Amino acid sequence: MASNELRNSLHDFIRGLPKAELHLHIEGSLEPELMFALAQRNGVTLPYASVDEVRAAYNFSDLQSFLDLYYAGAAVLQSEQDFYDLTRAYVQRALADNVRHVELFFDPQTHSVRGIVLRTVFAGIARALREARAENGLSSAMILCFLRHLTEEEAFATLAAALPLREEYADLWLGVGLDSGEVGNPPEKFARVFARARELGFHLVAHAGEEGPPAYIQNALDALGVERIDHGVRAEEDTMLMQRLAQSRTPLTVCPLSNLKLRVVQDLREHNLARLLRSGLCVTINSDDPAYFGGYINSNFIASADALQLTREELVHMARNSIVASFAPEVRKQACLQELQDYVLAH
Ligand code: ADE
Ligand code: ZN
Repeated sequence: MASNELRNSLHDFIRGLPKAELHLHIEGSLEPELMFALAQRNGVTLPYASVDEVRAAYNFSDLQSFLDLYYAGAAVLQSEQDFYDLTRAYVQRALADNVRHVELFFDPQTHSVRGIVLRTVFAGIARALREARAENGLSSAMILCFLRHLTEEEAFATLAAALPLREEYADLWLGVGLDSGEVGNPPEKFARVFARARELGFHLVAHAGEEGPPAYIQNALDALGVERIDHGVRAEEDTMLMQRLAQSRTPLTVCPLSNLKLRVVQDLREHNLARLLRSGLCVTINSDDPAYFGGYINSNFIASADALQLTREELVHMARNSIVASFAPEVRKQACLQELQDYVLAH
């Protein structure tokens, strides 16, 4: 086969690959078209004249320059129906990409500052996820993230406000995470609230080593006790940490197009995803904030495969990692793994 044909056939293989998405901020899946529609529905004035103007503004210099726009965009989300529409739109994209299980992040504090009650956020997201489970067999979980630029006291208040909803959303709300501006907000700032979440039986994850140093990854593991690291690409700067991550098989939820858009790397060909994988780390591929970074999960797989010459086996390996690293019940994991194995044998 000519190299173009080979590449196209690898892309098709990726599209059909059963996979899990473990690093997806639901607010980051707000496409400009929906942003405009919701702004109109809710009488919110956006500082843009058109959808094209919004897209043109998506030119980021670092994480903070993105977060400023991302928090502003989230202001159009107000009613339960808005959160439902947002989540439903993501679910459609995920199903088209053959995502079989998703664990999505949501940021209650982004909405509570605007007076949106937590139940509204939970209810809208959960309705779309439960529908997708019943209608499409897509399994899912919700991970409540604390904003790390705020205080630990505010994180405790958010946890306290959410706990009365736990029973009603027990099928979905499985974990807590940590996101927002990383540098200057180290994991240990949230040690006590994570200890409490652990006592309560939640799964724990945290963004670390996206822009922050390897010590933040170390501390996410040691001070917070997280089970997965979101991003983690700067682990490569610390050989001992690399050994530890490889040995413990701590999953990294890597987001290549995000890293490119936020200039963690200048060119995807420089991305260390393949090196991390080839060093024995449990690497997964995810989309982070796909509406802002130019692609959903399959775009991340395809761009990485092209830039880094990933083999079919490596792509399958990362799809398998995503299922193994998920918080899905064991029977669900086994079903997804079987589906993956059947797919690989058939292709
Ligand atoms: N919130 C949404 N996307 C994020 C990212 N990539 N890093 C930190 N916080 C975020
Ligand atoms: Zn993220």
